[in-house]
Amino acid sequence: MSDIKACLFDLDGVIVDTAVYHYRAWKRLANELGFDFTEEENEKLKGVSRVRSLELILEWAGITKTEEERAELAARKNSWYVDMISSMQPEEVLPGAREFLEEVRAAGMKTALGSASKNSGLILERTGLLSLFDAIVDGNSVTASKPDPQVFLKGAEALNTAPHQCVVFEDAVAGIEAAKAGGMKVVGVGSPEILHDADLVVKGLYELSTDLLYHL
Ligand code: BG6
Ligand code: MG
Repeated sequence: MSDIKACLFDLDGVIVDTAVYHYRAWKRLANELGFDFTEEENEKLKGVSRVRSLELILEWAGITKTEEERAELAARKNSWYVDMISSMQPEEVLPGAREFLEEVRAAGMKTALGSASKNSGLILERTGLLSLFDAIVDGNSVTASKPDPQVFLKGAEALNTAPHQCVVFEDAVAGIEAAKAGGMKVVGVGSPEILHDADLVVKGLYELSTDLLYHL
């Protein structure tokens, strides 16, 4: 029986499904540059930072851009993405996510966000979830991306909790690796074939209850 005191949540793909908005914005950028961008390619960008995502997209298309040009392209993509997430609604929270966050807090555990996104504040505000987090660690506060454990270690620290007393909820392989590297328990959200290194895999947070966490 483990002594769990805090839950650290990835955002995109665990609490909200923003992958579709990232896809539309990257596709529009790719099309403006004269090539296409597929849903399969988009899958590979889950959990990957904005800057690294652009580098990969340009690499796949065989295109070279200067650092200055890349900064402009990433900003252009982000402005379209922000336009889309600015009208997100509480109904877009993934099934069971709000309820699970409430249950975790009612059970006396702390909650933190651990996301690569620099837009997490806007998303949590738009979906009405901001008040359910004791700490927010996101792309604005880290210097190393997942699979580096920094984002989760900072979350544990902000909650005054030892890593082994934390459970991470993640949909990306890089995020599972990050949690493990940080010495935390991890619940994968998605397919067991892909997330096989997690301690437990569920299809969504709706499958979970706090009881399950004590048996990880
Ligand atoms: C992650 C997403 O949560 O955040 C990635 O899975 C995204 O697809 C990354 O690239 C960075 O997001 P943002 O909002 O800072 O562009
Ligand atoms: Mg994710």
